[in-house]
Amino acid sequence: MEKVIIFDTTLRDGEQAPGASLSCEQKIEVAHQLEKLGVDVIEAGFPVSSPGDFKSVEEISKKIRKCITCALARCVKKDIEYASKALKKAKRPRIHIFLATSKIHLKYKFKKRGEEILRIAKRYVRLARKLCSDIEFSPEDATRTEKSFLFKVIETAIKEGARTINIPDTVGYSYPQEIFSLIKEILNNVPNINKATLSIHCHNDLGMAVANSLSAVLAGVRQIHCTVNGIGERAGNASLEEIVMAIKTRRDVFDRLYTSVNTKEIFKTSKLVSTLTGFLVPPNKAIVGRNAFSHEAGIHQDAILKERTTYEIMDPKEIGLPGTQLILGKHSGRHALFKRLKDLGFKLTKKHLDLVFKRFKVLADKKKEIFDEDLIAIVQEQSKPKKQIIKLLGVRVESGTDITPQAEVELLYKGRKSKAISFGDGPVDACFKAVDKITKIKPRLLQYKLSALTSGRDAQGEVWVELKQGKRVVWGTSLSTDIIEASLKAYLEALNKLL
Ligand code: KIV
Ligand code: ZN
Repeated sequence: MEKVIIFDTTLRDGEQAPGASLSCEQKIEVAHQLEKLGVDVIEAGFPVSSPGDFKSVEEISKKIRKCITCALARCVKKDIEYASKALKKAKRPRIHIFLATSKIHLKYKFKKRGEEILRIAKRYVRLARKLCSDIEFSPEDATRTEKSFLFKVIETAIKEGARTINIPDTVGYSYPQEIFSLIKEILNNVPNINKATLSIHCHNDLGMAVANSLSAVLAGVRQIHCTVNGIGERAGNASLEEIVMAIKTRRDVFDRLYTSVNTKEIFKTSKLVSTLTGFLVPPNKAIVGRNAFSHEAGIHQDAILKERTTYEIMDPKEIGLPGTQLILGKHSGRHALFKRLKDLGFKLTKKHLDLVFKRFKVLADKKKEIFDEDLIAIVQEQSKPKKQIIKLLGVRVESGTDITPQAEVELLYKGRKSKAISFGDGPVDACFKAVDKITKIKPRLLQYKLSALTSGRDAQGEVWVELKQGKRVVWGTSLSTDIIEASLKAYLEALNKLL
């Protein structure tokens, strides 16, 4: 078995993403979690870029013991000296130096020729090697660099002591077959390449960072640069969780390869990075998105209940989730609903289950997701006595900032349809007054409570009404995504008790 080294650059390239900046304390927290996750290298920052970055690298160097702590530097004396200084307390320090090698960068960024770049690479890898025994060298924009020149630069960097050669697809321009060929060509054309570990660093501008990184691994690369949740410059870097889980899941493809990542820490790490950076994980994001292990379609839920692997290629427990989630919504079928009710401890008769299923479908049409609280409420609602002297047939309300609220209520009362219109202080008051007109009963409203049953804008409103007539006090409750309807039904339930 051969190990693929996981080089995490969440705290350097990831943090370079516009809007993702982290404080020193937050970086330390992430570094500790990365160590728990089992990454091999933590690129902690770019010390010369700011005093904050210097301090973060310095602090992480003091605290991280298992992983290699790495600092970035350009081929500039000051950068390398700052990196070395910030890494002073690191147990396993590494300096990562980079130098652009593509024609476009040489012409516009440096205004330098190839020979000069070769001389710079030689001079600064040598300097860095004097200050640190573990040097990684990146020819920036390698995938757009003329190949014969790239081979020469790599050979020079290895001659001067670089132990790792990282190939950056800086602008995310490559595609998998291209990367595969490039790595093979490097392995075949750089004479001293066996003295270094070959690494890959892919950006996601065309959405191929993970595919490109994995293709590089298949061609012979043994270190991958990646970030948690794929954050990074522009469209981001290759996502750590996708890389690790692809290698773990596709044993047929990556049969002799492994990473030392403890995948059970993946979800926790993803959450931490997302919370601290404020970069929300999209629900459909592979591995760590909210929907990655959730199923709503009835056919899928039914099959999953019979055998999880029918629709899941990974076990959610492997990434630290409690298990598969069957989301109850309008696409769900009876099986999933009955299973959830059973898990909630309800033992219902077939007839009762059918009624609950019907009510569940009506609610699911109005509400995106049905939570356990909704289900419990449905079951309880279905268990209420069905004998009703008054029943709601329909309601219309009119309300606004500059009109008097008005309600038209239609009821089935004592076997006859009756309609009444009334004004009120608010739409609920107007409804209750319209009911009173029909029943000719005017109970005192002792209490009216309205609350959202669950979170979300589409949550059901739960209404509690307490009425007093003479010495009798009765109450009614009801639920609906429409709070006027819920209020009326609660009022009528209490009235039914009075009658
Ligand atoms: O994308 C890039 O080229 C980089 C280098 C510093 C390796 O991040
Ligand atoms: Zn990068």
